[in-house]
Amino acid sequence: MAKGMIALSTVFVITPFSTLYKYLSVPVPTIRIKRTKVANRSEVSVGDAIRFKFPTDDRPAVLIHLEPGEYKYGDYRNESQVKVLNNDEFVAYDTICTHLGCPSNWKSSAKELPCPCHGAAYSAIDGTVLKGPPPRALPKIKLDIDDNGDIYAVGYESGLPLFGMESIAFEEETNE
Ligand code: FES
Repeated sequence: MAKGMIALSTVFVITPFSTLYKYLSVPVPTIRIKRTKVANRSEVSVGDAIRFKFPTDDRPAVLIHLEPGEYKYGDYRNESQVKVLNNDEFVAYDTICTHLGCPSNWKSSAKELPCPCHGAAYSAIDGTVLKGPPPRALPKIKLDIDDNGDIYAVGYESGLPLFGMESIAFEEETNE
């Protein structure tokens, strides 16, 4: 009898909470990332960059054709390091600064992405913070280059969430 009463009271206690949770929990908004053609290799000279929009039609991003050489990387508040690129390489970033949302640029002479608002700069190799107040790295976009040299943005390698879109989840397109 006592056992039956405990079981019954458990049902009354647990059921309202689980029902409440079901009604209160809001599904996370998700954007399905579309494989997006950015350019062909031949269209971006070594050291140059082009702007594009990704993953939505109004979100600014940049594709950079890095020249071989030395690049700083690693959050300066821990320890910046230097990486040597022996070959040219393509990288891409979401350009919205993770500090307060200004657009950052590509500065080939400094081999970094500076943000004009409060003096920040990001690494061209991995988007880490080389100086200034940003709390985290720029999101690095995952690229796929096909046999024709066409370059596609397909997702993110690191650095999520996007500034201003913190509550949005991203789902990459699969080839299945
Ligand atoms: S918004 Fe970029 S450094 Fe402040």
